[in-house]
Amino acid sequence: MQYRQLGKSGLFVSELCFGAMSFGARGYWEKIGGLDQEAARRLVDIALDAGVNFFDTADVYSHGQSEEMLGKALKGKRDQVVLATKVRGRMSPGVNDVGLSRLHIIQGCENSLRRLGVDYIDLYIVHSFDFMTPLEETLSALNDLVRQGKVRYLGCSNFFAWQLMKALSLSDRHHWEKFVSLQAHYSLLARDVEIELVPLCQDQGLGITPWSPLAAGFLTGKYPRGGKGPKDARRSKEDQNFIQFDEDRAYTILEEVKRISDARGVSPAQVSLNYLLRKQAVSSVIIGATKPEQLEENLKTVTWQLSTEEVRALDEVSPLPRLYPKWMLDFTRLDRDNSRVII
Ligand SMILES: NC(=O)c1ccc[n+]([C@@H]2O[C@H](COP(=O)([O-])OP(=O)(O)OC[C@H]3O[C@@H](n4cnc5c(N)ncnc54)[C@H](OP(=O)(O)O)[C@@H]3O)[C@@H](O)[C@H]2O)c1
Repeated sequence: MQYRQLGKSGLFVSELCFGAMSFGARGYWEKIGGLDQEAARRLVDIALDAGVNFFDTADVYSHGQSEEMLGKALKGKRDQVVLATKVRGRMSPGVNDVGLSRLHIIQGCENSLRRLGVDYIDLYIVHSFDFMTPLEETLSALNDLVRQGKVRYLGCSNFFAWQLMKALSLSDRHHWEKFVSLQAHYSLLARDVEIELVPLCQDQGLGITPWSPLAAGFLTGKYPRGGKGPKDARRSKEDQNFIQFDEDRAYTILEEVKRISDARGVSPAQVSLNYLLRKQAVSSVIIGATKPEQLEENLKTVTWQLSTEEVRALDEVSPLPRLYPKWMLDFTRLDRDNSRVII
């Protein structure tokens, strides 16, 4: 396992992060994993043994159960790991028990600390943008948590590029702690982040931590075209799949993944994770699992590397949509190449 700097912060994290979204069985989350404490402990131990030092959860996962279970599974090892959790989602019907208000962030942090059984959180992430709360209120509350020693670093997730840039500028202006990472939906099926968010994070020194890197298990190849996946798998259990994509395009991409995995004698999941590890802006890929053998399989991706040609083939089979202004800027940048002046 290699350790990479989380953006330009001084924090080093394992190139694979273990995500605990499958822990717990409350409400909708039962379909995501429904794991009990013993199953959670086994997965955490496998991850630790492989050198994973970075663990991700959120207050909303199984309505707090995931945090409780991760905290218990890490008992006695807390100082060896970088622990990330999130705030923003609804935790009760109360009008203020949701969002990124000062009130909810402070309450949310206290509750997460209690559920995790720790006295500080290494990386506190706002789970997505809150359109109802002024960014200044959110950012100053987060800054206070760092100053109080309850939180070490700040991150965000699911932001548009303009929202993230505005947040970074406000923090700069007010001398508040800045976000050091962006947790974003990023996989071979979903490369949208490369249009604006990746260049922004590279410019501003944030590390990217992709979530659902296997498109909720699709990129393992276990869902046959035109058929059903295993009964106990998430995409078979969900009434409506949370991660949605164009199936024709997805199966074309999967065929290329399988061509490479067959030639190398590794699994499609390993190829899909390896692809993200080869992206420069990525600090750590967040992997999920419901079974020990899945995790053991996926962890092996750090033992080898896709070649430049293989990465190019995967890039080519999963092109970015031709969005404006990207295509126009790709065109106008041509006249800045002084070696080929055409008038
Ligand atoms: N910030 C956000 O908004 C956000 C959103 C989603 C997730 N996350 C984070 O990202 C983490 C990972 O997300 P994810 O679970 O959606 O990741 P994923 O890698 O796309 O999917 C993981 C799921 O795929 C299946 N799987 C994984 N490896 C497999 C293998 N080798 N063979 C067969 N099946 C395999 C398992 O589900 P089944 O056994 O059920 O098939 C596993 O739970 C989460 O735990 C969470 O920490 C963050």
